[in-house]
Amino acid sequence: MSDPAQILKPSFPVEDASRSGSEAFREIQNIMDALELKEHAEGGYYVETDRDSRLVPSPFLNGPASKSEWEAALKRPGFDPKFRNASTTIFYLLTPNSPQCNFHRTRARSIHTVVRGRGRYVVLHANETEENCRVATFAVGHNVAAGEKLQWIVEGGAYKASFLLPDQDGGLESSGGLLISETLVPGFEVYDHDFLDKGGLKKLVGEQGATDLGWLVRR
Ligand code: GUN
Repeated sequence: MSDPAQILKPSFPVEDASRSGSEAFREIQNIMDALELKEHAEGGYYVETDRDSRLVPSPFLNGPASKSEWEAALKRPGFDPKFRNASTTIFYLLTPNSPQCNFHRTRARSIHTVVRGRGRYVVLHANETEENCRVATFAVGHNVAAGEKLQWIVEGGAYKASFLLPDQDGGLESSGGLLISETLVPGFEVYDHDFLDKGGLKKLVGEQGATDLGWLVRR
């Protein structure tokens, strides 16, 4: 990771009410209305656009990833832990009002494509080793010549977080949000999902890393 202290700062100010009449704000509202996005527990907004009805045997041997979410998972009608939908796809949006997605992981592999805007991803490769966890960070957006990724994969078991970047580096103006498409294989289940807490973060990246990255942990 190149200079985490510089890169891993929240770089977008949370939108204040005074900007609610702006063009960018209206555009975001239009997108949210048209796509029928709702709040995500990770931060940001989402809608599931596809769930393959074909079932595959679950490739995951473990029980629920998180005890606290186990009950919610149980309540999903028809969910049988022995099976998963073959894939699911969502739209996911970060906005100036909800500019970050907090560290979480799922057992499924996730395939992302940027649709609109810019952001930064931070991935903790806890799936590789619990000690000296590899930390990766990269910008996503349409400026491929500047190294921004249009498409990226996060393997199951890695923790990821993301945050909105302004449309121009160093600017603060008029982000119309970061809209991505994300496909999980096999499909999403709360049963396979958990959040990272401060203690878990410290274990993975140490005291200093946890100080640098703590703002991306869900409160
Ligand atoms: N329901 C709640 N969160 C998610 C998610 O991240 N993906 C999908 N497909 N469904 C969800």
